Amino acid sequence: MHENLRRLTLIGALAVLAGWPAAAGDTSARQLIAQFAAEAGTQPSAARGKALFMGTHTGGKPETPSCTTCHTRNLKAAGQTRAGKAIEPMAPSVNPARYTDSAKVAKWFRRNCKSVLGRECTAAEKADILAWLSSL
Ligand code: HEC
Repeated sequence: MHENLRRLTLIGALAVLAGWPAAAGDTSARQLIAQFAAEAGTQPSAARGKALFMGTHTGGKPETPSCTTCHTRNLKAAGQTRAGKAIEPMAPSVNPARYTDSAKVAKWFRRNCKSVLGRECTAAEKADILAWLSSL
């Protein structure tokens, strides 16, 4: 048991040294918000994040004018993709796995901001949105 633990610790340390790609559970909303805010040089604003998430936009795909098109306005409930596939709730209070995987967060911000806004979200926008979502 003790030996296994030591071996696991060693493997973990080697993985970090080798710069292995980010794995699930490698971060937290707080950490991500701090990173994006530092990158943007702004203070995150949950109010701005909420307005952006709840708002209706042009510039993206006509069938997805808002983040709420898929995630709905009730972030504690499940959403739905355009194809009808369920999306787990976005609120960490009901879905604690949210915003703990940096690769997942990056992937979906990229994809969803392009769909809704027709461009990637800025670091400031990502900090704002996460500041709001993580408070739910
Ligand atoms: C076309 C449907 C759709 C739209 C529109 C959409 N999303 Fe998503 N979103 C998804 C899906 C599908 C996932 C991945 C499945 C999951 O995480 O449950 C996801 C995941 C995410 C994640 C990752 C959450 C995590 O656990 O790390 C974030 C952040 C996110 N969306 C933000 C947004 C924002 C911000 C907008 C508006 C700019 C938006 N989404 C619009 C479908 C959508």
